[in-house]
Amino acid sequence: MNTLLESVRAKAKNAYKHIVLAEGEEERIIRAAGIIAEEKIAKVTLIGNKDVIFEKCPNVNLSGVTVFDPAKNDLSKYSELLYELRKAKGMNREDADKLVLNPLYLGVLMVKSKEADGMVAGAVNATGDVLRPALQIIKTAPGINTVSSCFIMVLPEGNKYGENGVLVFGDCAVNPNPTAEQLVDIAVASAASAKNIAGLSPKVAMLSFSTMGSAKHELVDKVVQAVEIAHKTAPDLELDGELQLDAAIVVTVAALKAPASKVAGHANVLIFPDLQAGNIGYKLVQRFADAEAVGPICQGFNQPVNDLSRGCSAEDVVNVVAMTALQALGK
Ligand code: ACO
Repeated sequence: MNTLLESVRAKAKNAYKHIVLAEGEEERIIRAAGIIAEEKIAKVTLIGNKDVIFEKCPNVNLSGVTVFDPAKNDLSKYSELLYELRKAKGMNREDADKLVLNPLYLGVLMVKSKEADGMVAGAVNATGDVLRPALQIIKTAPGINTVSSCFIMVLPEGNKYGENGVLVFGDCAVNPNPTAEQLVDIAVASAASAKNIAGLSPKVAMLSFSTMGSAKHELVDKVVQAVEIAHKTAPDLELDGELQLDAAIVVTVAALKAPASKVAGHANVLIFPDLQAGNIGYKLVQRFADAEAVGPICQGFNQPVNDLSRGCSAEDVVNVVAMTALQALGK
């Protein structure tokens, strides 16, 4: 395990938050719950049937784990909460009664009602299905209108880019075509994740195919506009752009292309102009540079909810739970 993840787990132990795992009957989730309980990384609740869970993983010690079986509990308070939150959007009581049986909705409602500090799912459900209940129920944090995501990219030892080879990339998983305002939300939230989870001092580059006016195009205009908005609305954030990737991270290129910028050449938070660039970009670095891509970490929610990759291992689940616990600090 890399030192970043070791430190995230250690910080999570101190926080000891309560995280609900909606896909409680999935084997990797059950094994992760056993590790989380044994290492006291968080208090954990599995949503599912106790017999199914214990039969699936008879050798996992689940003595410190709570199991919440929707079939054996009264869900009316969750259904009532869901109805109240969504009636203005056309939800009726019958819809709410049905939806609370979906563990992804139930888990989010447990977080909304402050019975848990965060939810993690996505080992067997698609990103959209995990995020939609949280977008509808938990909503965004004050001052943020856009939920987004980032990856913490950990480059092989000795790599000179970012802060000791660690960078944060956003948004690589949620918003297909963000507006300038949404790019600012992504930048602010990614900087917070860089600081709170990766322990970086954020230096944010708003990426484009142009550096400081070198190219003219409406796609570039969007990034320029985002930089202008960010300088006004988040004046304390070290952020600059528009920058090409090389000008953002290579000191010698920055000296030629953006000599007046304090961020250029030293950026450790890279904000991509859209999801195609962000998703392709993180995978390029992950594969070609043999980097570890930690995430996606969802950011901007009022209370933390995180999506797992469907290819995740039990250890990945433990790491995402630990990051979710850190996001819950101060909520
Ligand atoms: N931030 C804040 N609120 C949002 C956002 C957002 N980014 N997106 C949607 N919402 C809100 C809507 O305003 C709406 O609120 P309301 O119902 O209270 O009015 C609610 O969430 C639901 O909105 P929908 O439009 O119904 O949600 P949608 O079906 O568009 O789903 C989603 C949103 C899941 C984020 C969608 O944009 C999506 O699928 N994104 C791409 C995900 C993806 O496939 N990523 C790539 C794979 S991941 C990887 O490779 C690591």
